[in-house]
Amino acid sequence: MTTMKHFIDLADIQADEILDLLDLAASLKQNPKAADSQRLAGKTLGMIFAKSSTRTRVSFEVGMYQLGGQALFLSTQDIQLGRGETIADTAKVMSRFLDGIMIRTFSHQDVLDLARYGSVPVINGLTDLMHPCQALADLLTIKEYFARLAGLKLAYLGDGNNVAHSLLQAGAKTGMHVAVATPHDYACDEKIVEAACEAANKTGGKITVTADALEAAKDADVIYTDTWISMGQENEKAERISIFGEYQVNEHLMSLAKNHALFLHCLPAYRGLEVSEAVIDGPASKIFDQAENRLHAQKAVLVRLMES
Ligand code: CP
Ligand code: NVA
Repeated sequence: MTTMKHFIDLADIQADEILDLLDLAASLKQNPKAADSQRLAGKTLGMIFAKSSTRTRVSFEVGMYQLGGQALFLSTQDIQLGRGETIADTAKVMSRFLDGIMIRTFSHQDVLDLARYGSVPVINGLTDLMHPCQALADLLTIKEYFARLAGLKLAYLGDGNNVAHSLLQAGAKTGMHVAVATPHDYACDEKIVEAACEAANKTGGKITVTADALEAAKDADVIYTDTWISMGQENEKAERISIFGEYQVNEHLMSLAKNHALFLHCLPAYRGLEVSEAVIDGPASKIFDQAENRLHAQKAVLVRLMES
C-alpha cells in the first residue's frame, strides 16, 4: 500500500512508490480493464489554474473521466483565490466538496499550504520550482523505449527550471545519470541538486552539473530541453535568448549523444530557440508519446491518491 498522501514534490515520494506508479501507468495504458473505468466513480478533482495549460488541463480532465470521476476547471481569474481569499480558507472550503485538488501556480509554498490546510490529496500541476507530473510521464516514456531506467544517461540542456528540478529528482530516485547543463546564472536550485546527489548515491545513479552543453550531451541516451522563457518570465525574453544560444538542441548536439538517443521536450516548444526544427520534428523526437504519457502517468497518481 502506498504511504503517499499528496503528489507535490518527488523528493517526498519513495523510490518504490515511483516505480509502482510507473507500473500502474503502464498497465492502465496497455491493458485497460473495464473495472478501471469505475475506479474513481463518484469522485471529483478540482483543478486550480493560475497559469496557462494545454496538456495538464486536458490530460487530468480526460484522466478523471476515464476513471469514472469528473474534474472541475477552476481558473484563478474566476475563483475568489484570485481576488485575495487565502489559500488556507480555499483549502478548507474545497476539501468539503472535492476528493482531490490539482493546482498549477507560481509559488511552490502555496501548494504546500493547500495540502497543509486542506484534508484531501493535493497534486502539483507545476509551480515555479517543480513539475513532478511531467517528470513521471518522462520516466514512463523513457522506460517504454529502453525497458529500463537505471544506468541510462539523461542530458538536460537549457534553463535550470521547474522541469529540470523534477527531472533531477526523478532520475536520481530511479538510478539514472542526470547531466544538467545550464548557463552559470541559470543553474538549478543548489538544495535540489544536493538532495538529488544524495538520492542518487543510494540508487547507483549519478548527478552531473555543468555549464558545458557538449559535455552533458556526450553519450547521452536521452537529450531533453525546455523553453528558455518559462511562464512568468516573459519580460526577460530578449535577455534570455541572448544568453542561452549555445544550449540549443540541434543536429550537432544530438550527434554527440548515443546513436539511439531520444529527444524529449515537455512542450510547449519554441522551434529555432531551445530546439531546432530538424531535431524536434525528426526521428529521434518522441515528444507526442511523451505528451500522451501525461495522461497515463497521472491516472496512476489519481488512482493511488483517490481510490477508496
Ligand atoms: N508540459 C506541460 O505541462 O504542458 P502544459 O503547460 O500545456 O500543461
Ligand atoms: N518551464 C516551463 C514548463 C511549461 C510546461 C514553464 O514553467 O513555463
